[in-house]
Amino acid sequence: MTSKLLCAAFILAALTLSITFSLQPDQQKVLLVSFDGFRWDYLYRVPTPHFHYVMKYGVHVKQVTNIFITKTYPNHYTLVTGLFAENHGIVANDMFDPILNKSFSLDTMNIYDSEFWEEATPIWITNQKAGHTSGAAMWPGTDVKIHESFPTHYMLYNESVSFEERVAKIIEWFTSKEPINLGLLYWEDPDDMGHHLGPDSPLMGPVISDIDNKLGYLIQMLKKANLWNTLNLIITSDHGMTQCSEERVIELDQYLDKEHYLLIDQSPVAAILPKEGKFDEVYEALAHAHPNMTVYKKEEIPERWHYKYNTRVQPIIAVADEGWYILQNKSEGLMLGNHGYDNALAEMHPIFLAHGPAFRKNFTKAAMNATDLYPLLCHLLGIPALPHNGSLSSVQDLLRPTAPRTVTHTQSPPPHHGSGKPGEHEQESNAYFIGVSLDTYCPVKYQQVFT
Ligand SMILES: *[C@@H]1O[C@H](CO)[C@@H](O)[C@H](O)[C@H]1NC(C)=O
Ligand SMILES: *[C@@H]1O[C@H](CO)[C@@H](O)[C@H](O)[C@H]1NC(C)=O
Ligand SMILES: *[C@@H]1O[C@H](CO)[C@@H](O)[C@H](O)[C@H]1NC(C)=O
Ligand SMILES: *[C@@H]1O[C@H](CO)[C@@H](O)[C@H](O)[C@H]1NC(C)=O
Ligand SMILES: *[C@@H]1O[C@H](CO)[C@@H](O)[C@H](O)[C@H]1NC(C)=O
Ligand SMILES: *[C@@H]1O[C@H](CO)[C@@H](O)[C@H](O)[C@H]1NC(C)=O
Ligand SMILES: *[C@@H]1O[C@H](CO)[C@@H](O)[C@H](O)[C@H]1NC(C)=O
Ligand SMILES: [Zn+2]
Repeated sequence: MTSKLLCAAFILAALTLSITFSLQPDQQKVLLVSFDGFRWDYLYRVPTPHFHYVMKYGVHVKQVTNIFITKTYPNHYTLVTGLFAENHGIVANDMFDPILNKSFSLDTMNIYDSEFWEEATPIWITNQKAGHTSGAAMWPGTDVKIHESFPTHYMLYNESVSFEERVAKIIEWFTSKEPINLGLLYWEDPDDMGHHLGPDSPLMGPVISDIDNKLGYLIQMLKKANLWNTLNLIITSDHGMTQCSEERVIELDQYLDKEHYLLIDQSPVAAILPKEGKFDEVYEALAHAHPNMTVYKKEEIPERWHYKYNTRVQPIIAVADEGWYILQNKSEGLMLGNHGYDNALAEMHPIFLAHGPAFRKNFTKAAMNATDLYPLLCHLLGIPALPHNGSLSSVQDLLRPTAPRTVTHTQSPPPHHGSGKPGEHEQESNAYFIGVSLDTYCPVKYQQVFT
């Protein structure tokens, strides 16, 4: 056979099998898991065999830039909307909206007011509008009525409900008579223990091992339910954690008169609302108060944080240097670990791993933005993405090659012989093998179906 014929034969074979290239409807399932506060490098602190198993048979992104402020609610809402905080409106865990004249507080679980969430539309709503069903096990915001909807199935937030119970619900929803295509699963650790112990504590080792065991449990349950090879599992987090200390505390009471302002949010980004006529006084008193605290008038907040254009961002914000704490005074408690700092800091960055029919195997990518997850999820679910701040093209290399829409010959060097072997893979489809072979033997250019 001439090389041309060989090439044609491969293309024919590939086209015949092309249907298996793209995701089957029953493979357009996504389970998104967040382990709160799982810093990117916890993967290497102690053995994490289950995380490494996912990496070996799936994909791993080493550096994920989350959004400012690097707090739980703002980042979880970004993961499901693809928007920066100024665009989705959940600008902090503790907020005051001067137009609504309402407060929002994670501290007191006063988070159920729909109006705070409705500047954006989370993915579960779009998924349901497209005719699908979603199920959420305590993912932040999923038990809040947003634009008149809840997820098809959801659990009321209750931190005492065990990981195993949450997993059981997820499995039940994916295997029911009308299965969900989108599952969201949330777990509070290692964030809770990270705050309590501080990330540098050797006691964090067992905490990370425990999370690895929980992932092992999830994998085992997915396998038992025959979901492991058909479902796309994405494991991520909202932020990292950094070590704090009683030696790195900035007390606002030392610089400001308590009567002159309201402290809407504290550390490490203090959100300050000066009282009527007190703006200049408060700003001047704070501006050069401490070398480890940078004070911004709202309009001076750096563009790269995308944290300015929202009424819930207060007139003055004071941002602590990494590891520093802003308190009213020392009579308040201090946590040994915290997050919320500049999202350019490595210690604020979360993990990102994925496994499933849509994803490459044993593939490592250097970096992505957290905003890119949303268009990726929409692509996997086959639903339209609403306007967002991410980019699907930036993360499409995580995905396996998809069906060629048009196959055109281009002038290129003669075909060469590569091994064409898919390597040591957990499970391989013919389609992937043909795809690899095509790449190796036939210099064809095909248009990808990504948009
Ligand atoms: C804002 O709400 C508070 C009660 O929470 C009320 O005392 C105050 O008058 C309200 N302000 C305006 C401008 O409506
Ligand atoms: C939270 O869950 C725990 C454990 O399942 C249960 O005992 C408790 O009653 C629940 N609390 C609420 C408010 O439902
Ligand atoms: C705190 O401020 C001092 C003095 O400017 C500086 O040397 C130090 O690097 C700062 N700490 C951090 C964590 O940025
Ligand atoms: C410290 O701040 C708290 C408010 O957070 C206040 O109730 C308390 O009186 C302050 N303590 C001192 C000694 O000023
Ligand atoms: C995964 O890829 C690395 C290099 O990228 C390679 O060294 C390793 O052998 C691969 N492992 C498997 C199981 O294919
Ligand atoms: C993240 O987004 C910024 C701004 O859109 C972009 O410049 C940068 O290249 C992105 N990073 C990655 C790793 O895609
Ligand atoms: C982020 O996306 C929203 C919605 O499309 C858009 O209004 C906003 O301008 C975007 N922000 C940036 C910095 O591009
Ligand atoms: Zn936290």
